Amino acid sequence: MTEIFETPPATGGNYEPLGGAKLADHDGQSLRLRAGRTTVEVAALAPNLFRVGMFPNGRTPRYDTEAIAKTDWEPVQAELQEDDGTLALSTGPVTARVSLNPLRVSFLDAQGREFAADDEELGMGEVVREGADVFSQPLGSPVRLYKRREGGERYFGCGERTSGLEKTGSSQVFWNVDPPAGHTASFNNLYTSIPFTLSVNGVRGGASHGLFFDNTHRVEFDLAKEHEDRAYYGAEGGDLVYYVFAGPSPRDVLMRYTELTGRTPMPPLWALGHQQCRWSYETAREVEEIARSYRERDLPCDTLYLDIDYMDGFRVFTWDEGRFPEPGKFISGLKERGFNVVTIVDPGVKVDETYGVYTEGRERGFYCQTAEGEEFHNVVWPGLCAFPDYTNPSTREWWGENHRALLDKGVAGIWCDMNEPSLFVPQQSTMPGDVVHPGGGDPKRHAQIHNTYGSLMARSVREGLLKISPEKRPFVITRAGYAGLQRHALQWTGDNSSWWEHLWMSMPQLQNLGLSGVAWAGVDIGGFFGDSEGELLARWYEFGIFQPFCRNHSAKGTRSQEPWAFGEGHEGSIRKMLKLRQRLLPYLYALFEECHRTGAPMLRPLLFEHPEDETTYATDDEFLFGDALLVAPVTRPA
Ligand code: GLC
Repeated sequence: MTEIFETPPATGGNYEPLGGAKLADHDGQSLRLRAGRTTVEVAALAPNLFRVGMFPNGRTPRYDTEAIAKTDWEPVQAELQEDDGTLALSTGPVTARVSLNPLRVSFLDAQGREFAADDEELGMGEVVREGADVFSQPLGSPVRLYKRREGGERYFGCGERTSGLEKTGSSQVFWNVDPPAGHTASFNNLYTSIPFTLSVNGVRGGASHGLFFDNTHRVEFDLAKEHEDRAYYGAEGGDLVYYVFAGPSPRDVLMRYTELTGRTPMPPLWALGHQQCRWSYETAREVEEIARSYRERDLPCDTLYLDIDYMDGFRVFTWDEGRFPEPGKFISGLKERGFNVVTIVDPGVKVDETYGVYTEGRERGFYCQTAEGEEFHNVVWPGLCAFPDYTNPSTREWWGENHRALLDKGVAGIWCDMNEPSLFVPQQSTMPGDVVHPGGGDPKRHAQIHNTYGSLMARSVREGLLKISPEKRPFVITRAGYAGLQRHALQWTGDNSSWWEHLWMSMPQLQNLGLSGVAWAGVDIGGFFGDSEGELLARWYEFGIFQPFCRNHSAKGTRSQEPWAFGEGHEGSIRKMLKLRQRLLPYLYALFEECHRTGAPMLRPLLFEHPEDETTYATDDEFLFGDALLVAPVTRPA
């Protein structure tokens, strides 16, 4: 619990910015500098993309995090000029300027205007803690980067967030958690972490740039909160690596950002339709009933979900054959009526000597371990569980292969949940930082890779599905993940509540996700926790049919909220909306294609198209669906 409400731990200690540096080496497009035992590299990867890395204490430069999809950049023609303690590496449209004493890095656009410029006094450096040594701080000191905020610069993005669209003046924590029910604007970090900001500058006619701070430890941004003229980007450990996307439009930034971290794959067409979920439809008969109602009532629906109760005692990759006898027959029957079936899979594997998945994983050394080398256990739905170490490529392959048990029965897609990971002791906690991921010979502590656990799980599922059914476009959903998760899965935003406030919040939340590369996303229509009611549900659909992912879902113990749950009037409004979505499918499919090719989100803020108009920066309550449709839903009761 504490991790959710706490303001990030005061980093403590003394911040020490880098001092003087010397040029150690350079080639046509990159520089290597040395400042004492710290190496700093500045490289042009593309004419409007630069990478900066700071590697303290003699560490070797490394850039291969889970976020990065592209490493084979075409050579860039860059020119290096040295002048009186300053180096300028220019690609033409953008120049990286490096002053050597002290070492500070800034960027200039084609008009010579500075952006993403280091704060002159603070620059980048480390937080030195008194008495710290390699034993007390094995992952290195916290690192920080201070950037000047230019006049007119406003911040957006930061992935999955509560509160409004604009993030200027806020502090943002990046540490995946399963938050307690009812997250409001006072919550900070949620299930996924995308340490990326899009800066848009109204004073400069909407000139935009992006900054991706690629660190998978706990990360914190201060976006001109502590000081209105500067921002900082910090991590609890690891190296300081960031990328600057020079734009100049938001579209250009997203194009490069998704080139670096990967694009949304093309979805199977059925996945664009309306989907119905519930925790849980507990028997095959109950699911049949829902399917029949959909068809009888002439309500469009293409996908039905099986939540955790389809499994035998919540053991992943099994079926409860009492409640779901002959799953293959049941699923093919639904398929004949036009329904695809998606099943949930959680990472926790029940510790049970008679359960082959568990014992095989143990024998092959595929689970996370305690610092003492024991198998790490905690409790989730099945009771005591072991947790796959997805950092190990062999574990990922094994996990992916296990999905045959589901796909062989006709399952069309996989829903990855609880993959922050979320643990029940203490309630909704996550793995301790000292848990070991053996990594198949490349061991890491959990604190180093925490934010990637969900992405690595989704990756193993996507790769597994592609191997099992290479002819099909995989359908994978994830709750947790890190920057680049869009390559592996779509994201739904976890456990929202059946509140008008959460209907409203869905708009800025999905807009910022789209600005952070995760365009294929959606919130649970009708709200997950709590009881929905007719007017709320109908209004939610008026918004929800414009989500790239359109699914109704609700929690155990809550009132039913299928479209017919609240009488004919509301059902009629919802039917109209669902039919409108059907008519828009060719348009939506074209938007997916645009997103797949360019990174432009389907659901996009007005500022994406009109960054020159500052009034668009505050449009939390309306958005664009492609460039042709403006959506301004009602989010208050009449
Ligand atoms: C988690 C998921 C939710 C699911 C439930 C049971 O709370 O976020 O969508 O229904 O677990 O599996």
